[in-house]
Amino acid sequence: MKITCRLNGKEVLFNTFADKPVSELLYEHSEVTSIIPGCRKGTCGNCIILLDNEPVLSCLIPAFRIRDKEITTFEGYAKTRFYLDVTRGYEEAGIQPCSYCYHAKSLLIESIIQENISPEPEDIINVLSVNRCSCVDEKDLVKIVETAAKYRRRRRVRRS
Ligand code: FES
Ligand code: FES
Repeated sequence: MKITCRLNGKEVLFNTFADKPVSELLYEHSEVTSIIPGCRKGTCGNCIILLDNEPVLSCLIPAFRIRDKEITTFEGYAKTRFYLDVTRGYEEAGIQPCSYCYHAKSLLIESIIQENISPEPEDIINVLSVNRCSCVDEKDLVKIVETAAKYRRRRRVRRS
């Protein structure tokens, strides 16, 4: 079946099976390198995308569900000014993330601070628990997100 959607701001057409996982579609797409095959069953959390601005595990989403939707992968998000807040969060927390979870985690952090500009530690840990990370402990994860949220609040005050 033919499915059109918007991927990182551009209209794209997929010719695919209706039930093919979106993670596989994206893995095969030439402009997406952040989605790599992981567990394919919703446990590693490395296939996170934003679907109409909501974080979802793309390996659990069949292709037909993205018809006429807006998909943002890390490639699209990293071009936005908001990504800078996340990178500052990592920098100020003194965390050098590895590439294993970074793309998915960045999108999750963005979704947390979009939802609540002053998130509570338990909410941060709860959302980020979707994404397995073996390098960064919970305390540092909270610090990263709280710092990113701080920069987002400043941005809002400046309205930029
Ligand atoms: S590939 Fe592991 S959760 Fe999707
Ligand atoms: S930073 Fe290495 S797995 Fe998360």
